[in-house]
Formats: sequence, structure tokens, C-alpha cells
Amino acid sequence: MTRIGKDIDEARRLLQFGEVVAVPTETVYGLAGNGISPETVARIFEIKNRPRFDPMILHFSDIHSIQPYVQAMPEKGQTLADALWPGPLTLLLSKTDKVLDLVTAGSPKVAVRIPSHPMLAELLQQLDFPLAAPSANPFGYISPTTAQHVADQLGDRIEYILDGGPCEVGLESTIVDVTSEKPVVLRKGGIDIETIDALIGSVEVLETSSSRPTAPGMLVSHYAPRTLFRLLEDDEFPSDIPLGNIGVLAFDCFWPDIPPENQIILSSTGNLGEAARRLFSSMRELDGKGLNLILARRVPDRGLGRAINDKLRRASL
Ligand code: TXA
Ligand code: MG
Repeated sequence: MTRIGKDIDEARRLLQFGEVVAVPTETVYGLAGNGISPETVARIFEIKNRPRFDPMILHFSDIHSIQPYVQAMPEKGQTLADALWPGPLTLLLSKTDKVLDLVTAGSPKVAVRIPSHPMLAELLQQLDFPLAAPSANPFGYISPTTAQHVADQLGDRIEYILDGGPCEVGLESTIVDVTSEKPVVLRKGGIDIETIDALIGSVEVLETSSSRPTAPGMLVSHYAPRTLFRLLEDDEFPSDIPLGNIGVLAFDCFWPDIPPENQIILSSTGNLGEAARRLFSSMRELDGKGLNLILARRVPDRGLGRAINDKLRRASL
């Protein structure tokens, strides 16, 4: 059985032995291992039950340590890095030979990020290799935002979970491909599009598409709870839904006609940051109630709301 603790030295020791350890980040918990060890990276795929065509992000302590792994940093990438790292931003850059093909699923581009969570930052500083780390959930399920979430699902498969408390952002990092003149946002996440636009001018935003397997983050059914989940398109309560045993993921107030104990309000003050932080844990909580169906509506489509709506849409596919 796994141990949950705050011992950074223990995490470091295990990682140096090639073990896989769950680590906190400001976005979601990661399933981390030595990113330059083929055996360890293969083990991460195995633990997560993740298909090998879905590449992983490499996590670093600072810009300097990224250099050997990427070709030149484009100007717009540098601008984003200067403003937003450490933080919930991942940049896609052209890789060097030092990056394992297994990490990028054969792509010539590698995803890199400098996380801001203080415990992970300290851990990375003590390691002389980057950490490959996907979110610490079984493939296809909701990302974990507490150490207990990780233990609930992967507890029998990893030795240690470094507990850094509940994740501050609660959504995965925003992924931006900066290898072309007009950067492309591949995944909406903890940094909103408005912030990116303001820094580097307007960017292309790749929307959900099932027919684009070349953009692995865009896999259709991601972030899904086990309970049937439906995102309602408008304010009308659909007549085809029987009212029994239904749960609601509400934004800022309870829905009428559904028992309040079956509802979770993401932010009673309508704060999108709070809603983002609470989104995945609320989905998990509803998922654990043995309901027949969970309903949600879109939140305001601005700032972090765009990423929240993206997650809701994927969960309902
Ligand atoms: O916030 C985060 O990014 C968290 C924490 C742990 O850092 N990590 C995370 O990793 O969300 P993961 O593996 O669950 O999602 C990363 C996504 C992958 O699904 C993949 O689509 C995309 O990043 N990705 C990684 N490397 C890529 C590459 N070389 N080309 C295109 N997409 C890539
Ligand atoms: Mg993930």
C-alpha cells in the first residue's frame, strides 16, 4: 500500500532509484519519474494504463536546465516563459536527441514546463534529470487535485505520494505550441487565453476534435467521471430526463427541482478561479454518490471559464 507524506528527501531518493512517485503541482497531481530513463518512463505508461501514443510533459526547475532538451527558444515562447514560468503553462518546442522518443510518442516536439508548487520546485532542484509526469489518474479519468485522490485510484501501484495539499489552480497547464510563427493553444488550462493573447498577440486555439489524433491532448473522452455526465446546452431543463437519482454540478446556485444534497456549487460568488480549483474534486464527489446521471451547464465563457467549459464538454462526450 502507498504511503502519503511530506518528505521531499524520501521522494528524491525513490526518484533517484528510478521509482515512480506522485507529486503535487499547482495544477493537478503528477505521476512523476526520471524523464531520461526509458525503463522509468515505460513504467509510468504502465501504471497509468496509458497508450504509448499519448506523449508526456517534462518538468524542470529552471529555464537553464531545459536548454539541453530543446532547440532554440522562439521569441514568443521566451516571452511566455518570462511572464508565466514558474506556473501552469506548458510550451511545445522542437526537441533535441536527449529527449526519449517514448516521452514525445515519436514526435519531434517536446512539451516542457516549470511548475510553481514550492515542494515540487524544491524536489526538482535536487534532481539532475527532468521529471516526466502525466496527471496521476488512470488514463481517461478526472485528474487528481489532492493526495487522497491519487491514493484512491493508484494507491496499490505506487510506493509514495508526496502530499502538497490541494492544488491551487485545479486545472491542468495550458499547452502552447510555439514552434510556428502563430502559436497554437493545444489545451486550455490554468493560464487563460486572454493572458496569452495579451503577451504575444492573438493565438490559434485548437478546439475539441475527435478526428485529430495527431494532437493527443485532444483525445475525445478525457476527464470523464464513471457516472453518465451530460452538459446541457441551454437553460431549459430537458423533458426527456427522469428526475430520480440525478446529481448536478452547479456554477453559482442550486438548480430547482433537484435535492440540494445531490448538488455541488462550484463557486457561490461566481468566481471562475474558485470554480476551476473545485471542478475536478466536485466531479469526483458526485461520481462517488452512486447517481444515475450528473448534469451541468456551461459557466461564463471567459477567462478560466473557457477551460472549465472545455473540461465539461469532454466529460460529457
Ligand atoms: O498541469 C499539467 O500539465 C499536469 C501536471 C502534472 O504537470 N500534467 C498533465 O499531463 O496534464 P498529461 O500527460 O495528463 O497531459 C499532458 C498532455 C498530453 O495528453 C498530450 O496531449 C500533451 O500534453 N503533450 C505532451 N507532449 C506532447 C507533445 N510532444 N506533442 C503534443 N502534445 C503533447
Ligand atoms: Mg492527464
